[in-house]
Amino acid sequence: MTEMGEVVLELTDVVKTFPGVRALDGVQLEVRAGEVHCLLGQNGAGKSTLIKVLSGAHRPDEGRIQWLGEDFAPANPQAAMKAGIATIYQELDLVDDLSVAENAFLGHEPRRFGFIRRGHMARRTREILGGLGHGEIPPRRLVRSLPAAGKQVVSMARALSHDARLIIMDEPSAVLAHDEVGNLFRIIRELTGKGIAVIYISHRLEEIREIGDRVTVLKDGRTTAANLPARTTPTRDLVSRMTGRTIEYVFPEPSTKDRGEQLLRVEGLTRANEFADVSLTVHSGEIVGIAGLVGSGRSELLETIFGARQAESGTVRMGGRALRPGSVRAAVRAGLGMAPEERKSQALLLGEPIYRNITLATFTGYARGGFTNAGREVAEANRIADTLDLRPRDVRRPVRTLSGGNQQKVVVGRWLLGGTKLLLLDEPTRGVDVGARAELYQVIHDLAARGVGVLLVSSEVPEVLGLADRVLVMREGRVVREAPAGELDEDTVLDLVMAGSLQAEEVTL
Ligand SMILES: Nc1ncnc2c1ncn2[C@@H]1O[C@H](COP(=O)(O)OP(=O)(O)OP(=O)(O)O)[C@@H](O)[C@H]1O
Ligand SMILES: [Mg+2]
Repeated sequence: MTEMGEVVLELTDVVKTFPGVRALDGVQLEVRAGEVHCLLGQNGAGKSTLIKVLSGAHRPDEGRIQWLGEDFAPANPQAAMKAGIATIYQELDLVDDLSVAENAFLGHEPRRFGFIRRGHMARRTREILGGLGHGEIPPRRLVRSLPAAGKQVVSMARALSHDARLIIMDEPSAVLAHDEVGNLFRIIRELTGKGIAVIYISHRLEEIREIGDRVTVLKDGRTTAANLPARTTPTRDLVSRMTGRTIEYVFPEPSTKDRGEQLLRVEGLTRANEFADVSLTVHSGEIVGIAGLVGSGRSELLETIFGARQAESGTVRMGGRALRPGSVRAAVRAGLGMAPEERKSQALLLGEPIYRNITLATFTGYARGGFTNAGREVAEANRIADTLDLRPRDVRRPVRTLSGGNQQKVVVGRWLLGGTKLLLLDEPTRGVDVGARAELYQVIHDLAARGVGVLLVSSEVPEVLGLADRVLVMREGRVVREAPAGELDEDTVLDLVMAGSLQAEEVTL
């Protein structure tokens, strides 16, 4: 085994081009055994491309990669895995119709006499999941039926099912709730304690401070700073290396206007095992935030309001009129829009150009915003690409070729076309870099100023408190507190969302 602190991976002048884009333009990177090496950079800087080169998903055009002292050019992800490099991708690459155990051991199923040893595989999977603090996930369950955070855990189990010496994590925390991130960090510390190296990508500087040892910063496909100390490098320095400028991470001023007429009224909405007896209202021009852990029923609630799931009881009204339950079509006709949590599977037509994805009025894909003139369609999409600082700006590219954060901008951006009265936003800033995040906050405020009502779900409590006028806190499928954002602080909200801690004094509305 390698010595702690010994250099295991070294990249020199690595270049990777795609048609029209130099995604990596001379990258340097050095990773040591037992460290958490963080990669930082704006959306589109080249982070995911870099790790895909390391994991054998892309071949570099130029440059040198040395792994454990030898030249390294994995032909495919299996080869990289065999060499001891495991990757958890930003867009999860699980097979929905296979079980948890089958996904964990995909490509290297334990066999005897040519037959897959299913019992053994299930046992090993259960052990690994237990070690990850998720012994409750059944190894034989289909991955399709797991929530996003559960899929993330399976992805992690897959990485751990190999004897990896480097584990690469591309924004693993983006789908995790507050307590889950703590769990992830515990696992990372166990791994590095054994001398395993970790490359960690995140847009959240607090996380990098907490878990990171060293930081390498990428900008426009180049290393602009290498091996900075993760805890002590001033934020100002990190941000200016990323962007070439310094960005204030601020929320827009809360508006002082009176709220308009009531738009959305939800009463007694219930779905077994997801959420129960939820009542809420959203007025025109009002931003209502829902705070709660992943698994507290928040996303399911939004989807039910939008008609993508059918409630067992309760009603959803828009402008006083009850919506037909379980009908997205009815919801859209009544003026609802939704940016869902899982952008890849629910929100985007990956092979279609960016402008098509922007003008697509709903994620179910049956309406196209009524554009008949392709020129106008592109012009409108360009306007939105400008507002959101989409990179690259060319809206005729397939959306699949955008970086994760830029795909997220497309999912939210389509609702800026107009016509929507009430917008449901599920984790709108997931994977969006610090600069673009401030722009997105401004966009949400501008919508509200135009009279659009917004119902927003986020795992990041400061985001909910900073953006919303009014906040609902959910725990285990129930609303346990409702208050104007100004009356809550982060600690209070976290206490409320953490099961148990304040159970005795639960507030029922
Ligand atoms: N398959 C592809 N075809 C064409 N261009 C691509 C492809 N994959 C990535 N790119 C481009 O390469 C650049 C780097 O993208 P990458 O996904 O590596 O960014 P990132 O740093 O991971 O960003 P984010 O923080 O948003 O995830 C972007 O301009 C992106 O549009
Ligand atoms: Mg990425």
